[in-house]
Amino acid sequence: MCGIVGAVAERDVVPILMEGLRRLEYRGYDSAGLVALDDDGDLKRAREVGKVAALAEALDSNPVHGRIGIAHTRWATHGAPAERNAHPQFSSNELALVHNGIIENHSALRDSLKAKGYRFLSDTDTEVVAHRIHEHMQTRGDLLASVQEAVRELDGAYALAVMDRRDPERIITARQGCPVVIGIGIGEHFVASDIAALLPVTRRFIFLEEGDVAELRREGVRIFDRNGQAVERRETESQLSADAVERGEYRHYMLKEIHEQPNAVAETLEERVTHDHLLAAAFGPDAERLLAEVEGVHIIACGTSYHAGMIARYQIEQLAGLPCNVEIASEYRYRDPVVPERHLFVCISQSGETADTLAALRLAGEKGYLARLAICNVPESSMVRESDLVLMTRAGPEIGVASTKAFTTQLSALALLALALGKAHGRLDAEAEANAVAELRALPTAIEAALELDGPIEKLAEHLVHRHHALFLGRGVHYPVAMEGALKLKEISYIHAEAYAAGELKHGPLALVDEDMPIIAVAPSDALLEKIRSNLEEVRARGGELIVFSDAESGFLPDERTHVIALPRAGGPLTAPAIFTIPLQLLAYHVAVHKGTDVDKPRNLAKSVTVE
Ligand code: AGP
Repeated sequence: MCGIVGAVAERDVVPILMEGLRRLEYRGYDSAGLVALDDDGDLKRAREVGKVAALAEALDSNPVHGRIGIAHTRWATHGAPAERNAHPQFSSNELALVHNGIIENHSALRDSLKAKGYRFLSDTDTEVVAHRIHEHMQTRGDLLASVQEAVRELDGAYALAVMDRRDPERIITARQGCPVVIGIGIGEHFVASDIAALLPVTRRFIFLEEGDVAELRREGVRIFDRNGQAVERRETESQLSADAVERGEYRHYMLKEIHEQPNAVAETLEERVTHDHLLAAAFGPDAERLLAEVEGVHIIACGTSYHAGMIARYQIEQLAGLPCNVEIASEYRYRDPVVPERHLFVCISQSGETADTLAALRLAGEKGYLARLAICNVPESSMVRESDLVLMTRAGPEIGVASTKAFTTQLSALALLALALGKAHGRLDAEAEANAVAELRALPTAIEAALELDGPIEKLAEHLVHRHHALFLGRGVHYPVAMEGALKLKEISYIHAEAYAAGELKHGPLALVDEDMPIIAVAPSDALLEKIRSNLEEVRARGGELIVFSDAESGFLPDERTHVIALPRAGGPLTAPAIFTIPLQLLAYHVAVHKGTDVDKPRNLAKSVTVE
């Protein structure tokens, strides 16, 4: 959600902090700020409501320089987006702190600090932590020890970076529930909530573990576990290049990411399938034996990732003959789920840091699942580190808040899972396996063909710009595709959109249909084509306007109230959901562009939801 970046170096760190903030802005963006210690030993702070560009403008008028500094982009949780609530938060003009996460016991701490004379200038839970560390500094005089002491008193989730003018050589950082990565340089060190912020300055990273507190100086880094013991954490080298997060020639990251899908899907399949079979090693060395023992699957995720799970359910049931439940993580984590024997837990997440999904994964650890598998896009994420089995999607960094390539790569990975389960359970003979693999290998080309429809879809989008509502319909495996289409449209264009299984239409939503209600249908020629065709007739009979995404074989014909977009390659049951998602992404994108909304950073949303 929020983003943190910090640096201690021989050079001026403000340009590094600003570039880091720009790269983190997609995570949260209602305000931004930074602080640096200037050559006179004073903390110089700049904070602005709005985008990082507003902070850059403020710095143009009132420059800040320093060799040590911390910075933050904020997505408001406690306190409205306002300058006083933006980070860094200060205590007594001596200590500065940036924070991601939520401190649950902030009220009690605030009361006790007020009683001791601390004045609060913001509505944030963050300021409580700043004052608390400051209070410990009065007795201990050492920033590291003060942070260690203070974090022991905190309930909730946090990633912190702290500096103090009385201890000017170091930044202290701490992690509990929110990611923190340390960047290793030569004679300089960095901290951030996401490696994307630091790629222009280093590729060498150390990821803090839960409960860790670390000290960054120019010359080195020391890490301590939650018990205060000095520990070594493994250094990794990122393969990502700095320009992996550049927008290039594209107008928006979302458009770039939509067009990256053929490649992202191909990468996700690479080394996991040969020309005619699934490679046993795709899920790890022991997975083959384990998958054969699986008697059922529970899939947990949020948002777009949840839709991917819903699609997988149809495929797992069909190919492996196994029961498969799919549930939203924020619901699952507060149930007392009953887990039948030999069930596989699967969490799906682009970021691997979504608070609800991570909590569900941890709860699942106590529930006696056969194993917990993470399908995830960020190799260094908490979910990847905490799962027994991992299947990485290889979408590369996804910056647009609206998930696109993360979704189609998740669908590819889940198709592999369905195949692997089918194979492990003896339900897939060599011919069926070869056919399924051929279908998957053709997916990147089919996505490319779907992308060619950009022109007609852009024209169609003009039609929807002034609408206030839209209904999406699908049947079977394309019902969740319709849900994903509705989510895309609502999140970036702010048009109210809902999805229904088309068979449900006459059980209520049909009452909404009139000439102002566009109905967007996903209707490929599959076993349910005639069913959805009848449902669409019901809409037409009531004057509704239809936009039908189908294929040449379906026989849908356009008329003055019916627009038909025929996909050149419809794919089979494993790949059609990904293929039919492409035009829906393009439609949402073009409607949003026509409406002039902030496509990559829609209002009120953040890329990675690391708080509840
Ligand atoms: C959709 O476009 C969103 N990005 C959102 O629904 C997202 O899928 C959800 O927040 C889950 O995120 P995750 O995949 O990183 O866990």
